[in-house]
Amino acid sequence: MSIYGRSRVKVPASTANLGPGFDTLGMALPLYAWIEMEESAETVFHLYGDEMADLPRDKSNLLYRVAQMVFEEAGVQVPELSISMYSDIPLTRGLGSSASAIIGALAAANAMIGSPLDDAKLFDMATALEKHPDNVGASLFGGIITAVWDGEHADYIRIEPPQELEVLVIIPEFELETVKARKALPAEVTMGDAVHNISRTSMLTAALAAGRLDMVGRAMQDRLHQPYRAPLVPGMEKLLAEAPAHGALGIALSGAGPTLLCLVERREQRKQELERFLLATMQEQGISARTLWLTPCSSGVTAELLERNGMQNGSFLDMIKGELHS
Ligand code: HSE
Repeated sequence: MSIYGRSRVKVPASTANLGPGFDTLGMALPLYAWIEMEESAETVFHLYGDEMADLPRDKSNLLYRVAQMVFEEAGVQVPELSISMYSDIPLTRGLGSSASAIIGALAAANAMIGSPLDDAKLFDMATALEKHPDNVGASLFGGIITAVWDGEHADYIRIEPPQELEVLVIIPEFELETVKARKALPAEVTMGDAVHNISRTSMLTAALAAGRLDMVGRAMQDRLHQPYRAPLVPGMEKLLAEAPAHGALGIALSGAGPTLLCLVERREQRKQELERFLLATMQEQGISARTLWLTPCSSGVTAELLERNGMQNGSFLDMIKGELHS
């Protein structure tokens, strides 16, 4: 009989960079992954959803490895786990699926053993795994975050998303590995480009914090990563250049792509026009894509401890169905 509980977490997706804020700005989005974790006689995985099909179901699984890091940090041993996961977050599309998995596993493992690690510790561990704090920070804390990472410790400030802000994402059907999208970047940039991005990132952060949506468009300009990644995403250059004329406050590559994200004012009249423009531009390039309207997600990961009555997959799936229909 295990002395540990059964944990259940719900963790949001995220977008990173918001254009100029490369590796520093992140925003949580209301697409979710759910994880349940408990000690078990042997390690078993119950992974549900189309996005889970190709993930390993042994101890090389990221969720298992991340959970073991928590146990090691907390000085406890829980070598065998039963892990259930369902995710609605598209994989390798720039919506932070790996960051959500990392945060979900950290939070689930920590909750299971009585939450000995605080959020600051979980943030450091997650950032060490991801190597940048933007996606993991948003999934952990929710809202919009601006974060810095010194190689050991991550600091952040959370900004409540402006009420008037909506998000339209266009998710191309093809996948783009973050590793590949990072390899496209130069090792060095000019002082001019650095200054360009520092000024836009500062302006964007201040605009979001102050609810100055009128400044978002001019601030969402980037010279550090998007120009180099544009060849990897057909249609991206046109979308970046022309989406504002169709009603977007601003547009950016979501994280490392290939999803693109428009910030849109809630009362904007041209929402349908914008959506049609995004889809038509991808279609011109022969790329299938889907659009989703989202509102920024204020909450980060939530964890609860459930009664241990053995992993009941029926109840896990029932819970997911209930969540998806609510
Ligand atoms: N800031 C990261 C990047 C996010 O743009 O590469 C993707 O993980």
